[in-house]
Amino acid sequence: MQATSLGDGAELRPLEPRHAQELLSHMDRGRDFIGRYVALPDAVTDLTSAHAFLQRYETKAAADGGRLFGIWADDTLVGGALFPTMNVEQGTAEAGCWLEPSAVGRGLVTRAVRLIIEWAVEERNVHRVEWRVSPANEPSIAVARRLGMTKDGVLRESYLHRGVRHDTEVWSVLAPEWRASTGAGAQGGDPELGGAGGTLSRKGAPHIDRVVPDLSVSDLAAAVRQHTAVLGMDVLMDHGWIVTLGDGTGHQLSLMTTDATATVNPQVSVFVDDVHAAYRAALEANTEIVHPLTEEPWGVTRFFYRDSSGSVINVGSHR
Ligand SMILES: CC(C)(COP(=O)(O)OP(=O)(O)OC[C@H]1O[C@@H](n2cnc3c(N)ncnc32)[C@H](O)[C@@H]1OP(=O)(O)O)[C@@H](O)C(=O)NCCC(=O)NCCS
Repeated sequence: MQATSLGDGAELRPLEPRHAQELLSHMDRGRDFIGRYVALPDAVTDLTSAHAFLQRYETKAAADGGRLFGIWADDTLVGGALFPTMNVEQGTAEAGCWLEPSAVGRGLVTRAVRLIIEWAVEERNVHRVEWRVSPANEPSIAVARRLGMTKDGVLRESYLHRGVRHDTEVWSVLAPEWRASTGAGAQGGDPELGGAGGTLSRKGAPHIDRVVPDLSVSDLAAAVRQHTAVLGMDVLMDHGWIVTLGDGTGHQLSLMTTDATATVNPQVSVFVDDVHAAYRAALEANTEIVHPLTEEPWGVTRFFYRDSSGSVINVGSHR
């Protein structure tokens, strides 16, 4: 897999032994943050160990037993996405990731891991991609959710890290689930991944992260009580005028009184990785824009369009 754009000035590229110095400098910037849950910083402590780590992955890749990719933002190595294990005969792979602190909160890892899962499923016929994570590692669990994974269970005290035994949550996505969530098969190939099918081939189109129905309600507290009682969902976010409920496996429902900045309430919110590309697509499709592309104070950039039947769709990305 060659260099592949992640948008936002970032690229996913193979991480190779020639990057040992870059890897070491990156690890020095993120050592404490990355090392809370993963052993990578303990394996990369100087130039020799950085080189040895990268060489191990060269050997694994040559044997088809794993893959390692770096995430570069503005030409600085800031993280990675990898398959620490891969068994093509069995059709299984474990995916993983890390970022240094300066690169978190931009969706880089979600986009990077999406690319490598797409490659594994479509190019290597991998059936099951697994994600192993400490139950305390909420940002990583959020990535698993964004990737559409399901929690399989917990391996109790299975992971020894820096002298402490941790539980391991196992999450996974199966190839048919992956294809259903990406709409694979409907599109052509992607030259950069050398493959066919999947979201990568939709050049210029944004990836959709989440679709959330928005119910307009008159009494927010009463609506929250009713929907949590009936559906068993929890409150994930409460801005006073909008509450988002979730079930812990990625299903969400928003309840809102009156939109904080727009003059209309949307019926559905679609969260994408590149709202600017979505906005361009909406303009090209001559849809009616009823709330312009706006950087909202709560960290979302969004616009609303109205379809020919009058439904209003909120399209947004987190900044
Ligand atoms: C796990 C880890 C990589 C997650 O980093 P992250 O920045 O939260 O993950 P992403 O790059 O996918 O970004 C998602 C965040 O960016 C926001 N975001 C902004 N634009 C986005 C976009 N276009 N798409 C998706 N998310 C976007 C999301 O809302 C989310 O922020 P939030 O959690 O505040 O809601 C990071 O915490 C880390 O490196 N931890 C240490 C190493 C580690 O634990 N690795 C995992 C081992 S299992």
